[in-house]
Amino acid sequence: MKTAKYLAAVVGAGPAGLYGAEFLAQSDVRVVVLNRDIRPGGLAEYGIYPEKYRMKEGLRRQFCRILEHPLITYYGNLLVGREGDLSLEDLRSLGFQGILVTVGAQGTKWLGIPGEDLHGVYHAKYIVYHYNKLPPYSTWSFDIGRRVALIGVGNVMVDVARWLIREKKVDEVIAVARRGPAEVKFTRDEFATIAANLDVADLEREIARVANVMRSVGQDPEAAKAFILSALERAYPKVSSTRFRFRFLSSPKRILGDAHNRVRVLEVENNTLVRVGETTKPRGLRTFDMLEVDTVIYCIGDQVDPGLGLPVKWGAYVTHPHPRFPVEGTSYEAYDPEKEEAIEGIFVAGWARQPSKGLVGTARKDGRHGAQALLHYLRTQSTLSPEEMEARLNTLRARFRELDKPVVTEEDWFRLLEVERREAERRGVPEFKFATNEEMLRAIGKLPSR
Ligand SMILES: Cc1cc2nc3c(=O)[nH]c(=O)nc-3n(C[C@H](O)[C@H](O)[C@H](O)COP(=O)(O)OP(=O)(O)OC[C@H]3O[C@@H](n4cnc5c(N)ncnc54)[C@H](O)[C@@H]3O)c2cc1C
Ligand SMILES: NC(=O)c1ccc[n+]([C@@H]2O[C@H](COP(=O)([O-])OP(=O)(O)OC[C@H]3O[C@@H](n4cnc5c(N)ncnc54)[C@H](OP(=O)(O)O)[C@@H]3O)[C@@H](O)[C@H]2O)c1
Repeated sequence: MKTAKYLAAVVGAGPAGLYGAEFLAQSDVRVVVLNRDIRPGGLAEYGIYPEKYRMKEGLRRQFCRILEHPLITYYGNLLVGREGDLSLEDLRSLGFQGILVTVGAQGTKWLGIPGEDLHGVYHAKYIVYHYNKLPPYSTWSFDIGRRVALIGVGNVMVDVARWLIREKKVDEVIAVARRGPAEVKFTRDEFATIAANLDVADLEREIARVANVMRSVGQDPEAAKAFILSALERAYPKVSSTRFRFRFLSSPKRILGDAHNRVRVLEVENNTLVRVGETTKPRGLRTFDMLEVDTVIYCIGDQVDPGLGLPVKWGAYVTHPHPRFPVEGTSYEAYDPEKEEAIEGIFVAGWARQPSKGLVGTARKDGRHGAQALLHYLRTQSTLSPEEMEARLNTLRARFRELDKPVVTEEDWFRLLEVERREAERRGVPEFKFATNEEMLRAIGKLPSR
């Protein structure tokens, strides 16, 4: 290993940040990874469905290996942002020569329709964080009723339906799609986790109801139905009597409540489809239907958090339209559209650049490309001596000591994994996770035990 010449910060330790950090370290950059959560992993830890033990364990092993790299230091339990423990400006003043922002998409997307503030309306992100035990959502209580409408028909909808069907065992789940059965975004393998609860007769009626609209834009209703039904071959065993059904060509317009402000009805507008090039768009028909549900969960994707301090457009941090350091034709450089200039030294990758886009593999590739763009930029900067590098890192550690909470390192996380592994063994369960930051910090000796 050569001596590091540049000092960079990676903000966010999801797949994009961790694989980006690995790329930088392999290119002899000294990297400090700063992460909001105690655990690294982002949605690989707190998004991927809990029962995907092997996938999650495999990713954790890769993340451990990355964080063991001698040029990478991990600091978790540390929020970066305008109101955070450190701002992006602070990181610059502390001497970081470049910053890779990989904070994911932490904001929620809503439709802005009346009734979204009623009791029983939730965003999928918080449910997913809850069942994956991310503090503080792990301890939130969600008042899930018996009849649940899920807005959106992607893989997140399937994950939430899986939880409702297999854990909460509600009576009915209705997946509401603004377009038709040919435009569902979930994969067959994911749908197999809930296919046993599909009301097949209802699907046939629903596809017959929308068949003419589908044909009008050149779609084949039978092929769309066959795709959905093909998941039955691999269906997970049925564990509840929940009825799962679809409602296609329907855009939510209003959520109505009862006298206790609890969701009572989801009003939807019926749509037709209009062909636009290779794809379709929904168009409202001004006829409305009422779906009797007591819970509504938005599964329509996420957007970034403007609190980080970078300009936001279309739900994502803005990148330079004419990048100086493109990678495979893509811009990763943060951009200020008001000043019409690059935000010097700051690069964006993963779901922070493209919210809700793709799987872990996509985030890994994007994180590496963002890191490559940052590396090109770093090579235009002066190199640092080992003494200067150490002095800057010491100033950062001094800043941490001023915080009113402990910051965790990679060793702390390795220790936490070991404590939780032993606890899982003791309980005879495949996995155990502490649900609060306090419990995690106590378990690794960062807070005094009670
Ligand atoms: C419900 C769900 C299920 C999924 N299931 C799968 C699956 O089964 N298989 C698959 O391949 N992909 C799955 N994905 C997709 C996959 O999780 C994402 O592609 C990937 O995690 C995105 O990586 P990222 O690093 O860009 O963002 P994230 O994974 O969101 O990571 C962001 C990181 O930034 C940190 N952070 C946020 N804000 C700040 C801040 N202000 N300061 C410091 N740190 C901050 C967070 O703590 C987090 O560690 C799923 C996604 C969701 C939503
Ligand atoms: N198990 C897994 O492998 C897994 C699990 C979860 C997530 N993921 C991945 O994570 C990414 C994000 O998943 P996702 O399900 O959030 O996103 P997604 O696949 O893009 O699906 C979003 C759904 O929401 C709908 N939608 C979006 N905006 C809407 C609006 N304004 N009004 C009504 N409906 C709207 C979309 O409909 P339109 O098509 O009409 O826009 C679509 O049906 C995907 O890449 C997914 O594959 C993977």
